[in-house]
Amino acid sequence: MSTPLYDSLRALAAQNPLRLDMPGHHGGPLPGGLSWPSELDFTENGATGDLFGGEPDAIQAAQRLWARRLGFDSCLFLTGGSTQGVHTGLALLAGQGSAVALDRGSHRSAYHALALLDLIPHFLPRPWLAGEGVAGPVSPEVVEETLKARPDIKTVCITSPTYYGVLSDIPAVAAVCRAFGAKLMVDGAHGAHLPFLGYTGYQAADVVVMSAHKTLPAPGQTALLLANGFGLPELQRWGSVSGSSSPSYVFLAALDAVRHHMEGEGAARYRETVRLVDRLRQSHPALRARDGLALDPARLTLHSPDGFALAAALRERGVYPEMADRGHVVCICTCADGAAEFSRLTSALAETGLTGLGSPCPPPPETPQAVLTPRQALFAPRRRVPLADSAGRVCACQIAPYPPGVPVIAPGERIEKKHLAYLTEIGYNICCADIIL
Ligand SMILES: Cc1ncc(COP(=O)(O)O)c(C=O)c1O
Repeated sequence: MSTPLYDSLRALAAQNPLRLDMPGHHGGPLPGGLSWPSELDFTENGATGDLFGGEPDAIQAAQRLWARRLGFDSCLFLTGGSTQGVHTGLALLAGQGSAVALDRGSHRSAYHALALLDLIPHFLPRPWLAGEGVAGPVSPEVVEETLKARPDIKTVCITSPTYYGVLSDIPAVAAVCRAFGAKLMVDGAHGAHLPFLGYTGYQAADVVVMSAHKTLPAPGQTALLLANGFGLPELQRWGSVSGSSSPSYVFLAALDAVRHHMEGEGAARYRETVRLVDRLRQSHPALRARDGLALDPARLTLHSPDGFALAAALRERGVYPEMADRGHVVCICTCADGAAEFSRLTSALAETGLTGLGSPCPPPPETPQAVLTPRQALFAPRRRVPLADSAGRVCACQIAPYPPGVPVIAPGERIEKKHLAYLTEIGYNICCADIIL
């Protein structure tokens, strides 16, 4: 086999899988008829614009249309996913060496940004929602308590929605931040579709990061950085630190085309997807949200007594969900999914018979003691040991089972017996952990 990866992807695509994962196009056509148009795959040549350049050009015009549509002062296209956006946004707001109030449930890109920028985190906890078996929203009250107790903190960073679709009240959190002179960054990696469904909450934040590729029909790695109170030159300055100096013009063109699509046919299709998700949720008590949660209306989080078995059974039937944990299977439903796809999903779910509430997942233990800063932990010498032998040692990696989707142990924190007992209790089966020497 001279092209093993290419061949295996072709073979999988030929099976016509139902893709309820990323990218949000789900294998269907991209807006504007883009496939891989090598005739558009340019570099900066004097006529094509410059993503990080200063002269007005077509890239800037396309970014302005996004900023205007989503209600922001500026927008930078990203070709390195929300990972690049989280690094760029935190550099823009927090600079180097400052203290940051960080959602404990942040993606690893935020933990890496802490280390690269030498930021000192003060973690914002999320309540445990036993009924759902997931972490709840970041509350404005917790943010207020934190900023009151720590007047040195001038940057707050939260994620909304979560992987499971849980939304935090961004305008309320933003109002608290403003009252304390702090800036708010929202990791909205999973929320790029929400403004096209009428959601306006993101506009209250200073900086928002979104992965176009997760929930919109856009190619993998395409993402957006949106800002209020900052001009494009500042976004470009920080975006170019981790962005390629040869960004893909096909990705940039796709970001332009997907906005246009979402302003018309895409939004109508997304509304239909939301209706189909709602109908499926209503069809089964185990799919309905309890606890009065504010949820992304397109995210389908299926409850199951054994989420891993349900995901495997779905895959056997050609249905590929985004993620599974012991009590859930998460499907990313987008405007690429219509009646035919939902009917296929419904039949597959009925065949498996594996939806329903499982045994409740216990709440995660309290955040461990931080011994090293994230930066010290990232660059420290390390060794891999069996997890069972790691009690008392300082962790060099992130141990973040789903659920809770919140790291039980982050780099630089001490691993205690109670953390290991929790990981055993929830059946988290990693065998090894990296510890600091
Ligand atoms: C909440 C969150 N933020 C950031 C990222 C990173 O996004 P990307 O894969 O676009 O780099 C992810 C990826 O899953 C995520 O879930």
